[in-house]
Amino acid sequence: MSHTAAPQPAIARRSSPLRGEARVPGDKSISHRSFMFGGLASGETRITGLLEGEDVLRTGEAMKAMGAHIEKKGDEWIIRGTGNGALLQPEGPLDFGNAGTGSRLTMGLVGTYDMETTFIGDASLQSRPMGRVLDPLRQMGVQVLSAAPGDRMPLTLRGPKHAAPITYRVPMASAQVKSAVLLAALNTPGITTVIEPVMTRDHTEKMLKGFGASIDVETDERGVRHIFIEGQGRLAGQTIRVPGDPSSAAFPLVAALIVPGSDIVIRNVLMNPTRTGLILTLQEMGADIEVQNTRNEGGEDVADLRVRHSQLKGVTVPAERAPSMIDEYPVLAVAAAFAEGETLMQGLEELRVKESDRLAAVAAGLRLNGVDCTEGEATLAVRGVPEGKGLGGGEAVKTHLDHRIAMSFLVMGLASEHPVTIDDRAMIATSFPEFMDLMTGLGARIDAADKAA
Ligand code: S3P
Repeated sequence: MSHTAAPQPAIARRSSPLRGEARVPGDKSISHRSFMFGGLASGETRITGLLEGEDVLRTGEAMKAMGAHIEKKGDEWIIRGTGNGALLQPEGPLDFGNAGTGSRLTMGLVGTYDMETTFIGDASLQSRPMGRVLDPLRQMGVQVLSAAPGDRMPLTLRGPKHAAPITYRVPMASAQVKSAVLLAALNTPGITTVIEPVMTRDHTEKMLKGFGASIDVETDERGVRHIFIEGQGRLAGQTIRVPGDPSSAAFPLVAALIVPGSDIVIRNVLMNPTRTGLILTLQEMGADIEVQNTRNEGGEDVADLRVRHSQLKGVTVPAERAPSMIDEYPVLAVAAAFAEGETLMQGLEELRVKESDRLAAVAAGLRLNGVDCTEGEATLAVRGVPEGKGLGGGEAVKTHLDHRIAMSFLVMGLASEHPVTIDDRAMIATSFPEFMDLMTGLGARIDAADKAA
């Protein structure tokens, strides 16, 4: 696996204006779900625009190991699913590599099957809490036959003969936990109810409805969502066009904002309102981001983003916004390092349990490169330096097997006075394999550190 290979350092240097057009790869959340639901549904699912990153490909391998047929023909992925309720026991452990979404959603999907399934992953994934998914599964009758201390991977699940439908209030803002319970409900008789006090990305609900699941959402007067799903129905294969990932678009977007003179267009970006918190925040900071050609494709809003270099100002980002930009805080912190004044980010507790402790990793990388910042329990305050004077030039930033930490600090180096180095770029392939080529194609000066002169 890639994490056992030698680290691949990289360096980013102050760049001339970024120019041109880019298309970011398919949305990671939708790509995982396309493989899962296609692999489960009856009949054929056809997918274009799929993110072919390591995380998603592992979800595809897991679905194959449980009986789905998946092949690529030309630009299209073609899946013949097993039919709902008809997954097979895999012969060996399912290896999810670095992928929290793939592993947690699959635990839900297979947890209620009367079979044994073992989940393994890399050092980052093994350090992440799985109890948040195992707790509701236990309530449905799933046995955790073995797990590493603290309900961590490697772990083995055994489902009951007949799972019990539950009503579950999701205790933290997590689309993965919500989704795991909804997927467990697919193989459970009766109606399972998931209560979501704070709305998170809604791809599971939308896509399951598209595949024919009996699922309804009611939002009460306090904004709390009640999701009702009836299990054991038929799911039918679909045609899916995966839009570009806003969480990947965030990197060229912030790069263009901070590199003077830049003017770029990023095409075909998913604009689902549960995913656009970063754009809103950057606009509040004074960013020149024009949302163009807004259109609806396959039930999702997509648009092109024209982004021009802007002098940013610090703002306070309220905690309520965190779910709609949870993966974008590392790169927002980089944008804040070039803004005038202080940017205060609140409600960041979930950042501590991502691919790395992202709050600590971002603060450490910023400090190494001369940025004045304060890390609280669930907050980060960054005091920016317009034009990046004096920034950069630190030792290699520790990326802790975290793709978004790696990409964020490479973006930082494009506008800092001195270069920014990272210890390992290998994990970028989990979500954005084209990152280096796409960025250098826009004019970014990013190199493998051993090649850099
Ligand atoms: C995801 C949900 C989020 C996000 C992750 C993708 C999903 O995780 O960070 O990258 O596809 O459901 P949490 O549910 O842990 O917030």
